[in-house]
Amino acid sequence: MKRVFIHTFGCQMNVNDTMRMSEALSSMAYSPTPTADNADLIILNTCSIREKAEDKMLSALGRYRQVKLQRGALIGVGGCVAQQEKNRILERVPYVDFVFGPDAIQKLPEIIQRVEADRVRVVETAWVDSESYVFPTANPNTSRGKATEFITVMKGCDNVCSFCVVPHTRGREVSRPFTEVLKEAASLTTVGVREVTLVGQNVNSYLGGISFAQLLLRTAQVPGIERVRFTTSHPHDLSDELIEAFRIEPKIMSHFHLPVQAGSNDVLKRMRRDYTVVEYLERLAKLRVARPDIAVTTDIIVGFPGESDEDFEKTFQLTEQVRYAGQFSFVYSPRPKTGAAMREAEWGSVPHDVKIARLERLNALQKRISIELNAAFVGQTVEVLVEGSSKTDASRRFGRTGQNTTVNFDGDAPIGALAKVQIGHASASALGGKQVSVESMPAIMVPEAEVAPEVCVA
Ligand code: 5AD
Ligand code: SF4
Repeated sequence: MKRVFIHTFGCQMNVNDTMRMSEALSSMAYSPTPTADNADLIILNTCSIREKAEDKMLSALGRYRQVKLQRGALIGVGGCVAQQEKNRILERVPYVDFVFGPDAIQKLPEIIQRVEADRVRVVETAWVDSESYVFPTANPNTSRGKATEFITVMKGCDNVCSFCVVPHTRGREVSRPFTEVLKEAASLTTVGVREVTLVGQNVNSYLGGISFAQLLLRTAQVPGIERVRFTTSHPHDLSDELIEAFRIEPKIMSHFHLPVQAGSNDVLKRMRRDYTVVEYLERLAKLRVARPDIAVTTDIIVGFPGESDEDFEKTFQLTEQVRYAGQFSFVYSPRPKTGAAMREAEWGSVPHDVKIARLERLNALQKRISIELNAAFVGQTVEVLVEGSSKTDASRRFGRTGQNTTVNFDGDAPIGALAKVQIGHASASALGGKQVSVESMPAIMVPEAEVAPEVCVA
């Protein structure tokens, strides 16, 4: 048996792709190993959304060079950087054996056979066009005993946000047929999964035979599925039908990740986001009527080209007004071939220290809001789906509320149980408490040591 180590960078799409890579390689008798040191094959599943992610990949490659020298391990680079920068990787990193794009995962065994047999460097970054693309089907055994799992419902993105590299690395939108999604959900319940998150770059524009709202409702009806989530959404595709789904189906969890990116209409226009702040707020207000306890999170970019102090103040005020449960805020980083990178000189770069100062102010504000929102849970009892032992203290349990807030608690509920937890403590990022009761147990129980570990993500 040979060993493969897959280092995953970036988003949930990549985490899913890593699982599919691992399954494809098991047909070649490669079993996963949690460390690169004893691997025969090392794959970097890369992300190019921001420059930092690319730098991290290059420094990881530097570290893995030693394993190549000592053990003769093969090294492959997959994912978004591979798709966009194949030639640069091959030129700059002579010890990389193969490069493959997101559409080539099912070809991995063939690629590796060619590298091993012919001792040549292989590049496989062709797009598979929409009509003939077949989504890899998850092998449920990879998720055995886990409480929650992700299901890919679409790939690619047809939007043209001017900062974003995704349309260049993942291509056009292709939706997975809804029957496959429902089948995958059902197969995951047979190994203990009770919560699924439907993922894609822009799930709201799903076109797999039924609407996205219908897909959520149908997934919620799969026997054994107790909770449904999704990510990620574009505000201009947030339909009334989707809002209605929140009103009628309690199994759709009370969390909506709705990236706003900026609070200034001028910036949104240059970003080509296709909505105004008022339109965004109107959608949110409607959503909150349908589901009053909904937790809204967002993504924000600061220092986008041409962002003035006044523009930034508007983003700051929007954060205050919406009272996001959480946000991922990023410093703008120009990406190859994107509209904003090409027009940065014309619009005007924001100096690095200004970007950092804005980011710090925004993060401090968000932290204050998150603490206030979480503090309101102290004294309340919340329902948690148990995912395992706490990452900060292995003697405690860990799970998430419907609103997606992390809860660490004293108790003994097994993975997959729905437990009531009384909250005694709150911070910006998590709640703490003690188990009051176990409401329901998973259909199957797997010894915790045998539950598949999380994929390594940087
Ligand atoms: N610079 C900074 N942040 C970016 N994002 C996407 N592209 C860039 C970029 N060029 C952020 C957006 C997106 C999240 C996944 O990453 O906020 O929603
Ligand atoms: Fe990128 Fe915009 Fe598509 Fe999101 S919606 S993946 S930000 S182009």
